[in-house]
Order: sequence, then structure tokens, then C-alpha cells
Amino acid sequence: MPPIVHFDGAFVEKDAVRISPDDRGFLFADGIYEVIRCYAGRPFEMAAHMLRLAEGLAALRIRGVDVDAFGAAVLELLPRNGLDRSDALIYLQVTRGAAIRTHWFPEEEVPPTTYAAARPFAPLADPARGVPVITVPDQRWTRCDIKSVSLLPNTLAAQEARERGAYEAILVRDGVALEGSRTNVFAVIDGVVRTAPLTNYILSGVTRAVVLEICRAEGIPCEERPILLPELRGAEEAFLASTTSEVLPIVEVDGRPVGSGAPGPVAGELARLFRQRVAAAGG
Ligand code: PDD
Repeated sequence: MPPIVHFDGAFVEKDAVRISPDDRGFLFADGIYEVIRCYAGRPFEMAAHMLRLAEGLAALRIRGVDVDAFGAAVLELLPRNGLDRSDALIYLQVTRGAAIRTHWFPEEEVPPTTYAAARPFAPLADPARGVPVITVPDQRWTRCDIKSVSLLPNTLAAQEARERGAYEAILVRDGVALEGSRTNVFAVIDGVVRTAPLTNYILSGVTRAVVLEICRAEGIPCEERPILLPELRGAEEAFLASTTSEVLPIVEVDGRPVGSGAPGPVAGELARLFRQRVAAAGG
């Protein structure tokens, strides 16, 4: 059965999608996206993802998307693709639409282009083993809080990580280890779980928020405070957090072990509590 996707308000076979060469997503990466994880056919933290989508649309002044209707249509992708009991990922994208190429917005408002697709998903890494990461200079713009499809610095960093045998590249700006190419970063320093504060330099990760919520609910000391690169390297433990990686221990930074060089107890406990949240949400 060919995948069914949602494109410009209709369910169609993926191969039937036609996107204009004038689409501003194609020409300028003028759009935003979301990635939502589904466990056993249930989306996790869907409302938070749709809220971030709405905020991104507002930040870029892309109008004309009924976010609630889009969200409902997106959910419909699961049964339509036989994924209503599966672990899956939903990808959503909205661009400013197609118009003759000008850097400024189209003079006459055009409808945004909307796209959503679902596919089966299994995590790539084993949290029981942990993963190595590298650090690279952060070459992104200064609105990293917007989940823009303009991801060239992220893809270059991720590729470098892959070529160097690492799972993720941690982006470092002015000596601060901010986040990964596609993940947020946490470290355990002096017994405190620490992650970068929400600024324009990081994405407000949905998984990050859940991890902080768990820490607060369980009385695990935590702090939103910048992690300096030497602090990451010397941390007792470190881990990544994202929709696709969940809570994933970091065991090596730039070829040197973090802590004992094996997944640490705090990350292990947070991974377990995160899984409990997933189960409580029906996954
Ligand atoms: N990445 N930081 C960046 C730069 C990201 O791209 C992501 C998500 C995160 C984690 O956010 P969340 O917990 O909401 O997934 C942090 C998605 C999964 C992606 O691009 O595939």
C-alpha cells in the first residue's frame, strides 16, 4: 500500500504530491516543521508540538493555517497508513506557499503549503549502551528557537558526527554547549541536572520540557543554566533528549569518556521515568 500523506488539505498518495518550483520552502527554506512521536498508535505530547508549530507560524508571520484542523488531519494519517497500533513518526511542514520569487513576502497573500506524513519508527540507538558525541562550532542563525526547515548547519554538523563515528554533534557558541544538531543536551554537574536555558539560541524541545517536569516532580535537582564546554567534558553524566532519541546517555565527548564512560545512574533513572510517562500517556 503506497503511503497516504496529507497535502494542502487533502489525503493523497505520496507519489501524487506536486510542489511548485516557486514554493518558498524550495526557494528560501521559508517554512517550519514538527516531528511527533507516536507510541502504539498514540501521539506523545501532541498539544505541545502543535503549540510550537503555531508559535513558529506566528514568528514567521505565515497566515492561513487552521492549526487545530491540521492537527486532526495529521492524526487521521495513522489509521490511513495502518499505523494505529504502531510506533511511528509524524512529520509536518508548512511553508509560506508558492509565489513569484521575491525576497519579501508575496504582495498578494498566497495559501501556505501544508504537508504531513507518518511512517513506522524504531529508535536508532540503544540507551543501555549510550552514544558518543562530538562538538562543533554552532554555525546557525540567532533564531534557533524557531523550528525552521532551514537546517543546513544542522545537517552539516550531523554529517560530520556520522563521518567521525558519533551519534550527534553538540553545537558550541561562545564556549557554551547549547544543544545538538537535532537534540537538546543535558549534563549532570555536581549532582544537578543542567540544561541550557530557553533563549533564541536553542529550540524549546518538547522532550526537554518533559525531562525538566520529571525532575521537578521527582525532586531531582535541576537547573536551566548554560553548560560550558569544559563542564560538559568534565560532567558526571550527560545525555541527549529529543522526540526521536528520548533520553539517551552520552558516554563519550570528542573521543573522551564522560564520567565512567558508561551510561550514568541519573540518566538511567530519567530514561525509566520518561518511559513511564509514555506508558501513562497510553504508549
Ligand atoms: N529535532 N534541538 C533541535 C535543534 C532539534 O531539531 C530538536 C528536534 C530538538 C529536540 O526537540 P523535541 O524534543 O521537541 O523533539 C532540539 C527533531 C526531532 C528533528 O529535527 O528530527
